[in-house]
Amino acid sequence: MNADAEESSDVAPPRLEMQAISKSFGGVAALRDVDFVLKAGEIHGLVGENGAGKSTLMKIIAGVHAQYQGRMLIDGEQVHFRSARDALDAGIGMVHQELSIAPDLSVAENVYLGKQPTKGGIVDWRGMVAGAREQLASLGIDVDPRARMGSLAIGLQQLIELARVLFSGARIVILDEPTSALSPPEVERLFEVLRQVRASGRSIIFISHFLDDILAVSDTVTIFRNGRRVVTEAASGIGKGWVIERMIGTGHEELEGSYTDEIALDSKPDAPVVLSARDLSAGRAFADISLDVRAGEVLGVYGFMGCGALELARTLFGKTKPATGSLALEGRRLRLRNTAAARRAGIAFVPESRRSMLFYQEPVYKNMSISVLGRIARLWLKPAEERRIAKKHVEALSIRPPRVDILLQSLSGGNQQKVALAKWLTWPPKVLVLSEPTRGMDVGAKEDVVRIVRGLRDQGMGIVVVSTEPETVLSLADRVVVMKKGRIVREFAGEKISKDRLLEAA
Ligand SMILES: Nc1ncnc2c1ncn2[C@@H]1O[C@H](COP(=O)(O)OP(=O)(O)O)[C@@H](O)[C@H]1O
Ligand SMILES: [Mg+2]
Repeated sequence: MNADAEESSDVAPPRLEMQAISKSFGGVAALRDVDFVLKAGEIHGLVGENGAGKSTLMKIIAGVHAQYQGRMLIDGEQVHFRSARDALDAGIGMVHQELSIAPDLSVAENVYLGKQPTKGGIVDWRGMVAGAREQLASLGIDVDPRARMGSLAIGLQQLIELARVLFSGARIVILDEPTSALSPPEVERLFEVLRQVRASGRSIIFISHFLDDILAVSDTVTIFRNGRRVVTEAASGIGKGWVIERMIGTGHEELEGSYTDEIALDSKPDAPVVLSARDLSAGRAFADISLDVRAGEVLGVYGFMGCGALELARTLFGKTKPATGSLALEGRRLRLRNTAAARRAGIAFVPESRRSMLFYQEPVYKNMSISVLGRIARLWLKPAEERRIAKKHVEALSIRPPRVDILLQSLSGGNQQKVALAKWLTWPPKVLVLSEPTRGMDVGAKEDVVRIVRGLRDQGMGIVVVSTEPETVLSLADRVVVMKKGRIVREFAGEKISKDRLLEAA
């Protein structure tokens, strides 16, 4: 706890106390018996892997989830919020993971959203602009309040959204992963603002995957794992390695086995390069990216949400144009004007949302043959041939149910993903870029996808797997690059890696 706090925790009750909180979604526990204490005038960092329950606890505090077990107390008084409005009235403001600004409104309107000052019954525009200017200036944010919100850099938008929550009078401010889209100077600015807020005796809960950020700005750190609070410690006495150990757990209670298990990367440094990128940059998304994709090798690209890997994947596929840098396929300079050009060149992409590339109203076999060259490819196949090939894939990939005539929409998500991959068996590209290929799948479907991807690799395809999930990268990659805030910060090749080493690098 910092010295500026007005109250001492010895006498005053904590600002916020959560007691024995449990919460499930459809019978699946997201929080189990969690106790959590927030003191007045502290910055409290919250860390944990994806799905650990951080956002769920915050949404209970902020009135978004009204259904839960356990007790919540503010300044020693029990409360139960029914809505975000209730929480706001009680002085709790939250900046969600997803920005909730109105891009077409001005900065001033965003700052005053829902509580615009009026004069004689009409909105006091001048007063609002002046007020917003003053408030933003007090946070060190120098921006024209009349500017359209959507025209500003994401980092600035995030700071303005934070300003809105601060000026709503919140005594407890919750920030759910606010730094992922911020540049280093913006992170510094944010930290300045947080320290000012703390100095006024208010409390902040700050969630981030960036452990360096958490350790730099927090007074106290709480670690979540698997719906439970593992430990709460003063930030001054702990380091990054200590936090990672407790985040991922080394005990045997984990069903998925130990996270420090090592996997030997089967990198192929001598395999021919199929796709190479040199010095690619794209605005705020990523910078100075150079990498080689080799035939017969799976290159994993790992990083937290917002690290730039998804945008990089889109660039490799011609979906977005890089501002600078170059791409070459088998040594020849590649100019990808669009995704069709990429497909013709032999680069295929399976996006994280499969919606855009599957035809849900069509039978399974058609989804497998509509392929690289779009419909033209289908003309090469007679319908009977189409079905025969599809049957072979359905069997080889254990697609359930094992039928080629049923509509794709009647399959589970995991089986749809297998169909999405199957078409590349018939029309193999030179390079296949997969974004989050096993997200949301059950264990069995994941294993099938791993098998399919390995099969494609063994045919000599160069494969790129982009994922924010360490498990996905560990199970698929032969070589790994780690991205952080738009840059490659580490490469693992021909060595042993583990989940904790990946997290340490990110
Ligand atoms: N609205 C929801 N419906 C169903 N499941 C949810 C919902 N919100 C969260 N969950 C589940 O609860 C668990 C905890 O999620 P969350 O609190 O978002 O984790 P974190 O913020 O730590 O990444 C996850 O398994 C997640 O899938
Ligand atoms: Mg979350």
